[in-house]
Amino acid sequence: MLKGILCIPIICRTIKGTEDPNNTKLHHIPTVGFTWFPAWYWTILKYVTNASELIEEGYTKYKDRPFKFINLCSWVVVLNGGYLKDIRQATDDELSPTKAIHQIFKTQYTEGPNIAQNPYHFSFIRSYFARNVFALYNDIREEMMLAFNEVFDLGNNEWKSIPPLQSLQTIVCRATNRAIVGLPLCRDPDWIAINGDLSDHIRWEAAMLEFFPWFLLPLASYLTNTSGRIKRATKVLLPVINERQKCMGKDEGWLEKPNDCLQVFLDEKMELTVSELAQRLMGINFPANGVLTQAFYNLAAYPQYVQPLREEVEAITKELGWTKEALSEMRKLDSFIKETMRLEGVSPLAMMRKALKDVSLSDGTSIPKGTLLVITYHTIHRNGAVYENPETFEPFRFAFIEDNAKQQLSASNNDWVGFGYGKHPCPGRFFASVLMKTMLAHVLLHYDFRLQGDSARSKSISMATTIMMDPTMKLMVRKRSL
Ligand code: HEM
Repeated sequence: MLKGILCIPIICRTIKGTEDPNNTKLHHIPTVGFTWFPAWYWTILKYVTNASELIEEGYTKYKDRPFKFINLCSWVVVLNGGYLKDIRQATDDELSPTKAIHQIFKTQYTEGPNIAQNPYHFSFIRSYFARNVFALYNDIREEMMLAFNEVFDLGNNEWKSIPPLQSLQTIVCRATNRAIVGLPLCRDPDWIAINGDLSDHIRWEAAMLEFFPWFLLPLASYLTNTSGRIKRATKVLLPVINERQKCMGKDEGWLEKPNDCLQVFLDEKMELTVSELAQRLMGINFPANGVLTQAFYNLAAYPQYVQPLREEVEAITKELGWTKEALSEMRKLDSFIKETMRLEGVSPLAMMRKALKDVSLSDGTSIPKGTLLVITYHTIHRNGAVYENPETFEPFRFAFIEDNAKQQLSASNNDWVGFGYGKHPCPGRFFASVLMKTMLAHVLLHYDFRLQGDSARSKSISMATTIMMDPTMKLMVRKRSL
């Protein structure tokens, strides 16, 4: 019995500190939540179920000072927007975004070990989409229009209640996968079922793994559906690859060779097995549907802005067609999405970084190796010194900035970091911006929409580092009579 009691501190110390032996080096940074076993599970539960509230608590208590909270893999230090420069200027071997992402999303267990070990698809996304997004634009738009028709499935003049999150998940997944795996796979119900809400599954599973110390993660990972997902995706992908490989082997060449990510991976022999290729393609399936759903919802919740947006889209597409120039001229629409991301977006925490060595911030605050650093979006995007009425949704606040290039959705600056900022901004931001603007412009031209009944705009859910849309919310849509 006595031996058992004496063991408790050792077990606690092991659980809490083995990967993060330097946690005593963080005593100078104040804490929100509990730091002692088992109460720290309460803090972890709060982080997983409402990280925004935990951060708000620290922010209210400690104002502009850094503060920390416990996480079973390492301490998380939360910084305000004043430290943006520190994060931007740090080198990758000091503060790593990739290692932070892998720790937060438990990539090794939720996406597969080779994805975590060699995330080369991050730079692939940047270069492939930068080169091809407009070469593939007509295909992507065609897929999006067909998917809208099929998913909304509206008769003439009929109002219908739709679940916007699930509907947009399918539409975004089809349009995105027209560029990733091409036809016919981008329409395959199984492929869509695996990838449509993949990122939500990964986030739920990563959140569930938060409750296990690092050394139990290999065991706890059996609770995830990772291997089931990979097996299912491999099965769907195999016949497509066999078919393509037959065509690749033809001496006379291949006239209708697909232009998509899958073909690049096959041509360059970038993966050894179909299963590894399936994992990589799933790793590229980052969705833009969270922000899109928020923006779609805002269109229904703020009907006074719909007419000016429609007029803008109608006038510009009439003059310039559906082109790169047209999209860049849609400044009100651009600003509408940007404002949506300012107040909501993908996460309460921006620019997550893992300290790979001991570092010292510009004000002298020391951060030991192994710590996770994050910046609160709140302190940047709701900064009253920059934004007038920072808590109010003013959708055209970015539309009249003179320099159009600086105002564009995919461009970041010190005051707007919706896609990150500095050395590692989101590599999918150009693609996501083009897709979101095209989809909302299409919705504006072809549909009427309103909130269902008297429902107020439902709030999004802040789960761990992610903002998720309420999956139960509904909107009313009907075809516009043109
Ligand atoms: C509305 C949609 C999206 C938003 C708001 C968004 C936002 C972000 C943010 C804030 C980061 C972190 C940047 C940083 O740490 O400084 C990020 C990273 C990343 N995003 Fe996106 N993203 C979106 C869509 C996409 C899409 C469509 C793709 C892929 C096609 C993508 C791929 C990635 C990758 C691979 C990273 C990690 C980059 C790295 O650490 O080097 N994202 N994204």
